[in-house]
Amino acid sequence: MRVLITTEQIQARLTELAQEIGPQYRDRPLTIVGVLTGSLMFLADLVRRLDIPLRIALIQASSYRGKATTPGALHLGSEVLADVRGRHVLLLDDILDTGQTLHHLIKHLEEQGALSVKVGVLLRKEGRQVHTVRVDYVGFSIPNEFVVGYGLDFNDEYRQLPYVVVLPAEMYAS
Ligand code: IMP
Ligand code: MG
Repeated sequence: MRVLITTEQIQARLTELAQEIGPQYRDRPLTIVGVLTGSLMFLADLVRRLDIPLRIALIQASSYRGKATTPGALHLGSEVLADVRGRHVLLLDDILDTGQTLHHLIKHLEEQGALSVKVGVLLRKEGRQVHTVRVDYVGFSIPNEFVVGYGLDFNDEYRQLPYVVVLPAEMYAS
């Protein structure tokens, strides 16, 4: 599989993002909300670079997909410590594809009483956005290819890779 983004590139970019994000939330109550399961690596590596008080929450969202690149209906699952009333939220996901997931989660968190909702994604796929989502922090923009690793999965596998690779089409085409 072709490596698209190396471990070193990811780690260096996270340091830059943390330097951008940290000062924005100094003296503001911050909850970082990770979208399960894809954001786990991104979240874990990013928060360890932020030396500000913060809370971590997790929210489950899955858009059931038949073929890997076709988004299905969005399903919101359980939340872990997601009382965001009166708090600023930084919502983290692995990738912005069509935007369906983040579009709905932003609305959900605003309805829960978050003071503000900003969005950070490790990857933004070019030419795929259907829903308009304002993303505040982007790790990398990538071409329209199916990628796995560093949290991103195919059939819940490959998430543990410390880098991002392109999954060859013959591995997910039916
Ligand atoms: P969206 O709702 O269409 O923006 O899709 C977001 C979700 O689709 C992500 O959280 C991923 O779980 C999944 N996804 C989209 N593109 C890829 C990819 O290239 N590899 C792995 N998962 C992807
Ligand atoms: Mg996901």
